[in-house]
Amino acid sequence: MKNEILKCLKETDGYVSGQELCERLGVSRTAVWKVIRQLEAEGYGIEAVRNRGYRLHDSADILNEAEIRAVLTSHWLGQNVKFLEEIDSTNNEVRRMAEQGAPEGTLVVAEIQTAGKGRRGRRWDSPKGSGIWHSFLLRPEFAPEHASMLTLLAAMAVRKSVSNVTGLECLIKWPNDIVVNGKKICGILTEMSTEEDSIRYVVVGIGINANTPDFPEEIRATATSLALELGHPVHRASIINGVMCAFEEYYDIYRETLDMSRLKEAYNQELVNVERAVKVLAPGGDYTGISHGINDAGELIVELADGSLREVNSGEVSV
Ligand code: BTN
Repeated sequence: MKNEILKCLKETDGYVSGQELCERLGVSRTAVWKVIRQLEAEGYGIEAVRNRGYRLHDSADILNEAEIRAVLTSHWLGQNVKFLEEIDSTNNEVRRMAEQGAPEGTLVVAEIQTAGKGRRGRRWDSPKGSGIWHSFLLRPEFAPEHASMLTLLAAMAVRKSVSNVTGLECLIKWPNDIVVNGKKICGILTEMSTEEDSIRYVVVGIGINANTPDFPEEIRATATSLALELGHPVHRASIINGVMCAFEEYYDIYRETLDMSRLKEAYNQELVNVERAVKVLAPGGDYTGISHGINDAGELIVELADGSLREVNSGEVSV
């Protein structure tokens, strides 16, 4: 009932009368009043005016299951959603749920991660109340070699959502960082469980610095948050919804060919530093070259000083 009442309040531009809520939900006035008190205790600002009803104030920075459900318009991704106040890592939680048979599309969102994981075994700082720490479960039927490109799809989905919801110009830094004004706002960690030659499941974990008010001195030059760039907080649930909807769209396109042929043009348009010099941080040693964007395999084509082309399939690029 809480979800329904929140949805009604959000959908209405103005007051919703207590009577209307009772009729819509088939419950008593006391039951409605109790839910309103509960929502207030969770941090929602609700104005109650005699003879008019209830009106919801701006709730930009509240994240919970009801808030997510109230805005979710995706078809399957995120429909099975679990919100946790605290967890070690949303990737770990989705893995545990996958082992217990959770359905494809299961989404886990946490307010805080105590052991957030970054790429290459790094730690991912996941403070309370300001980030979007979320992971979702896929059970693809294709071969494991096609899974690495899911990370590129996730980057495209985050970029689309953030730019639609906030209006900020954001770009992708190959393979899957999202940058605003040259600083990182999002990281993606995809993990896979395989069995012989098939995929058991894939977990796509996405961390977005949404309303982070400040960063430690040592990363201030390279990391930022949406709120810092915008000057006001963002509604985190709307960004999650945007990611879910966009990923569904790109995933459908990707599965038609199992390569980036139909998506590379869009990806390259959103890529930072195309036709410019980039530094590739490769396992065998760093080198520089001109980036020509990705190929059908999702590899970054880099032109070296001698004119030869290298197709980079691992490592990172520094801007
Ligand atoms: C990176 O190093 O850039 C990747 C960071 C990925 C962080 C996200 S936050 C949600 C999910 N849970 C984790 O433990 N990691 C990912």
